[in-house]
Amino acid sequence: MLGRILVRFVRPYWPFLLLVVVFQAAQSVATLWLPSLNADIIDDGVAQGDTGLILMLGGIMLAVTLAQIVCAIVAVYFGARIAMSFGRDLRAKIFATVGGFSEQEVSRFGAPSLITRTTNDVQQIQMLVLMTCTLLVSTPILAIGGVVFALAEDPGLSWIMVVAVPVLLIAVGLIIWRMTPQFRRMQERIDAVNRVLREQLTGIRVVRAFVREPVEVARFGVANDRLTETATKAGRLFALMFPVVMLVLNVSSVAVLCFGSYRVEDGSLQVGSLIAFLSYLVQILMAVLMATMLAFFLPRAAVSADRIGEVLDTASSVVPPVDGATELPEPGRLELRDVTFAYPGADAPVLRDLDLVVEPGTTTAIVGSTGSGKTTLVNLLPRLFDASAGSVLVGGVDVRRIDPDALWGRIGLVPQRAYLFSGTVASNLRYGNPDATDEELWAALEIAQGREFVEAMPQGLDAAISQGGTNVSGGQRQRLAIARALVKRPEIYVFDDSFSALDTATDARLRAALARAVPDATKVIVAQRVATIRDADQIVVLDHGAIVGRGTHEHLLETSPEYAEIVQSQLSAEEVA
Ligand SMILES: Nc1ncnc2c1ncn2[C@@H]1O[C@H](COP(=O)(O)OP(=O)(O)OP(=O)(O)O)[C@@H](O)[C@H]1O
Ligand SMILES: [Mg+2]
Repeated sequence: MLGRILVRFVRPYWPFLLLVVVFQAAQSVATLWLPSLNADIIDDGVAQGDTGLILMLGGIMLAVTLAQIVCAIVAVYFGARIAMSFGRDLRAKIFATVGGFSEQEVSRFGAPSLITRTTNDVQQIQMLVLMTCTLLVSTPILAIGGVVFALAEDPGLSWIMVVAVPVLLIAVGLIIWRMTPQFRRMQERIDAVNRVLREQLTGIRVVRAFVREPVEVARFGVANDRLTETATKAGRLFALMFPVVMLVLNVSSVAVLCFGSYRVEDGSLQVGSLIAFLSYLVQILMAVLMATMLAFFLPRAAVSADRIGEVLDTASSVVPPVDGATELPEPGRLELRDVTFAYPGADAPVLRDLDLVVEPGTTTAIVGSTGSGKTTLVNLLPRLFDASAGSVLVGGVDVRRIDPDALWGRIGLVPQRAYLFSGTVASNLRYGNPDATDEELWAALEIAQGREFVEAMPQGLDAAISQGGTNVSGGQRQRLAIARALVKRPEIYVFDDSFSALDTATDARLRAALARAVPDATKVIVAQRVATIRDADQIVVLDHGAIVGRGTHEHLLETSPEYAEIVQSQLSAEEVA
């Protein structure tokens, strides 16, 4: 998975990658050259007392160092660019994929996990790309080149390398091997912390109202501690890394100096060469360390890549059609044919064998006790879900064959839980129609009975709305959601219990205004209040997912005991009041 993601998202930046490779190689060669120049200064310059040579070689060293710095800067610059662009593209891709998900896929992953995958997991791979770009090229050159140059200086001491390199490899390898299992756990626990935090922030009012803060604090504490525990475990192992590396490095340096000194004494090795050998040994061991560090990021990135791959490979269960219809033969008409719907994972269907026709320009009301499937039914119309069996037709065409934009453009859904986005009143109203003028916004507000309270706000249309619309009342939020659907000017309006938070008088005014303003539009109204629906052309009574009665108010009063019961319950409630 990691390989696939890397190839796919790094490929567009291959010219940069080429630059990185070239400059890294140049930088490594410069690094390798320096100790050998240094040895020459000592052996041919200092030992012979040749100041001119020292100055000249010193000058060359300076130039080489400068070149090395420039190459390193260029390489790191382009490496960072590749890594950051990679991260941006990958995040954009995940975002686009998640945007196409239906509710089903979102609930499978869970929103907090999707957030972690888009942020933290991408960052892990981005880190790997950055490390690779800065190390992958120079590491092998430094390691192999170091061996070659060191042997050229003195083959007699090379056995120290033969011992030191495997020791370092094994030690660091062991540490990393112990760390790897912690990583998957770590990502999962980051998910967990996100989940708890998100739930608590969303439900903060409920938490306060029920004095659950201590419990919630404890719950967060547990998730937090578990993350800390894994992070500490990984961190402790990581802390071992440097002492081990330094130990190997210093012991082998001592060995080089110790055994080298005998050889200097008997004249088979020059002092400068000894120092150069030492430098090469350090370079080699550093390269080995870097390589293992890369191996340290690799497993973590692989875990993250798998998690991202899961998201990218998930196809939405609501698949948009290829070449979907954009023109519908019977605008404004709705039809359900033998529709059965079960939520994924549920044993029993929520809707069973529904047949329903809504003629253009008419008003259909749906009533039923809570949990009878009303919301589920209206969610099938804009294709938030696909029916498990049977077909849903909008404008005479199966929704599965309609172009999604064409479908959504025709349906103005006011969901049961009105949701507003952070921004202003105007930005929310223009959500479905960015080109609407201020006059159109006011007209929509007028119909939705929202004009008064928006006018009362100091900034009017530019009044700020917080995320989720939490800074307006429930009824105001509902009216803004209704106005938002009106601004879109669809052929079909679907109100899912959108009048419940309004008082009876406002409810009546709103419906009258709606009938006047959009007489030709088809309206589907889910409601609890009999007063809201009694004038509808057709009333559908839903009970446990099946239609148990349909017709006008008068007709149903006589024929449907369920409807009569609903009416009766509200009448008696009013009488008591
Ligand atoms: N996302 C979901 N996953 C699984 N089951 C669900 C889901 N949403 C609703 N249900 C089930 O489907 C049934 C019908 O729910 P629905 O929301 O359609 O009822 P409703 O008639 O709109 O109720 P209300 O009047 O309270 O809004 C419920 O009994 C519920 O158990
Ligand atoms: Mg509902």
